[in-house]
Amino acid sequence: MKRTPAAVLAAALAAVMALALTACGGVGDAANQGGENGTVGIAMPTKSSDRWVADGRNMVKLFKEAGYGTDLQYAEDVVEDQVAQIENMITRGVDALVIAAIDGEALTDVLQMAADSDIPVIAYDRLINGSEHVDYYATFDNFQVGVLQATYIEKTLNLKEEEGPFTIELFGGSPDDNNAYFFYDGAMSVLQPYIDEGKLQVRSGQTEMDRIATMRWSGAKAQSRMDNLLSSHYSSEQLDAVLSPYDGISIGVLSSLKAVGYGTEERPLPVITGQDAELASVKSIIAGEQTQTVFKDTRKLAEVAVDMTDAVLKGEKPEVNDTESYDNGKKVVPAYLLEPVSVDEDNYQEVLIDSGYYSESELS
Ligand code: GAL
Repeated sequence: MKRTPAAVLAAALAAVMALALTACGGVGDAANQGGENGTVGIAMPTKSSDRWVADGRNMVKLFKEAGYGTDLQYAEDVVEDQVAQIENMITRGVDALVIAAIDGEALTDVLQMAADSDIPVIAYDRLINGSEHVDYYATFDNFQVGVLQATYIEKTLNLKEEEGPFTIELFGGSPDDNNAYFFYDGAMSVLQPYIDEGKLQVRSGQTEMDRIATMRWSGAKAQSRMDNLLSSHYSSEQLDAVLSPYDGISIGVLSSLKAVGYGTEERPLPVITGQDAELASVKSIIAGEQTQTVFKDTRKLAEVAVDMTDAVLKGEKPEVNDTESYDNGKKVVPAYLLEPVSVDEDNYQEVLIDSGYYSESELS
């Protein structure tokens, strides 16, 4: 067959590009992982929390069953690395992107790039703000998470009946994560009236999100903030409750409390909430330290995200159950919200072990 100069040039270019991509591990990975229905890029925030590890693992498995290959990347909470990972996925030609953003405001340009290549985007657990190129959102009822944490405190301190006053300190999530504001708003919808009437006292006076937020959900940052709060406001007062939005923060807060002598008969630990039912926190609940967590079944979330992606790629309409709550500044993103479940020492066996989320031996 006689080839035109243009065809020769195109073939040569293709060969050079293939070589370059193979050299940087690109085409090799994607091609190996491609499924009959295509490849999905999954961008996750960090492996430092076991929930995200489980989320990634669950999605890879379910996408595989649905005939998709996957390119799963973690960015260890470095925003620029996550952006670069998503850019690489787009360059390698993934068919769809599922993203749990580190900074919900930092993906506008890279999502424009995805849109220019007709790649649909599913926001996973965390909303991506400031871009119209977010097709769907798979998450939990984030407001309800905060309500569950705060009603647990309300119930444990028996705020409806007791006169108090009780002391409480509040911790918020990462200020660059949209979810943090939903958790806070949900919790304050229950706690604010008690704070207003003086039944709950925040001795530090720190109640607004800009004072109580914890950058990147860092347990270490929460621990040092708790150190300061305890030495400044609780040297002679007992702290009765801590609103913590996430297990990693709860564990940091606990270390701080134990370091100044909480956890004894004379000085019992305060009620401490949490979220994610992470292994360390469930063990802590069993040991009688952390009091509560909010379980969000990552198996179900993965299922929703995979079904959404599959439907979009097949030109169908994914199932959603919320078209009002999640305005990202450019559009209201249609969402599917799953129900979070409050867990403590009374129901962890049923919710976490009987459901197969953890095995008995993992928790001992
Ligand atoms: C949030 C998420 C929580 C928790 C937190 C820290 O976005 O909804 O479940 O995982 O991040 O990772």
